[in-house]
Amino acid sequence: PTAIEKPPLDILLAAPRGFCAGVDRAIRIVELALEKYGPPVFVRHEIVHNRFVVENLEARGAVFVDELDEVPADAPVVFSAHGVPKAVPAEAERREMLYIDATCPLVSKVHREAERHDRDGRVIVLIGHAGHPEVIGTMGQLPDGRVRLVENVAQAEALDLPAEAPLAYITQTTLSVDETADIVAVLRRRFPNIEVPKKEDICYATTNRQQAVKSLAGRCDALLVIGAPNSSNSLRLVEVARNSGCPQSMLLQRARDIDWAALAGIRTIGITAGASAPEKLVEEVIAAFSARFRIRIEEVTTTTENVAFKLPRLLAS
Ligand code: F3S
Repeated sequence: PTAIEKPPLDILLAAPRGFCAGVDRAIRIVELALEKYGPPVFVRHEIVHNRFVVENLEARGAVFVDELDEVPADAPVVFSAHGVPKAVPAEAERREMLYIDATCPLVSKVHREAERHDRDGRVIVLIGHAGHPEVIGTMGQLPDGRVRLVENVAQAEALDLPAEAPLAYITQTTLSVDETADIVAVLRRRFPNIEVPKKEDICYATTNRQQAVKSLAGRCDALLVIGAPNSSNSLRLVEVARNSGCPQSMLLQRARDIDWAALAGIRTIGITAGASAPEKLVEEVIAAFSARFRIRIEEVTTTTENVAFKLPRLLAS
């Protein structure tokens, strides 16, 4: 169709969106390790939850594996941004491997909190999603059984501990702010003495991306979250959008996943991206809309971020 025939479409672009400082650092670590040691550089688990990022690094010589025993002892290995159970670096030490930990410093902060509470004799309640690598890593900071996982309000209500038990809660960094508040309210009601984190465990990037989506969801006929199906923070963005006035909110990985039939007749669409989704994919999605619609873009900014984390000493120049 010619430009004249294209229907108009307003795109509301959430800001902040996309890469957080922890993802940025993790990817940089793999790139620098490739430069310093040459390929192959092994990476245990997807460095961040995004296929596009992983495939780009693969093309440059990174090799992604599920477990450490797939890595030859003489090759460098990077641990992903989500964090690892203590047993993983311990095993790397035992095998005298060269390993670089790309765990986000904000995840490491939660690990140290868990250790402190355990030292102080408290039972730890971790609010998070079973099976997510961050949850596996955080639970693995302490011996089995010391950390109790609570996934939702019902599990918080059912938690089988005495009301006066010495307790502390910690959380996954990428949860829904609102849902977590509901779970915490139940824990505080049932366990009045529960220790709360000094500073929220849900990270600044998660909080800011959810806030940005909330601010524009009510104005959109549909909302797209660019992110991977295994990306916790991206999934939460879809839920937040649905709960904030935009029932037609969808997760997609790339422009080719856009469901054009579902979007027929829309006038305003919101777009955001999870913390592990590169801006390039946002541009790709906008280009796809621009091919079919006469688009007008409005960036809706709720806050600006200037967080950056230091690189591990081994790679810092
Ligand atoms: Fe870290 Fe939060 Fe990103 S914990 S990896 S800054 S989503």
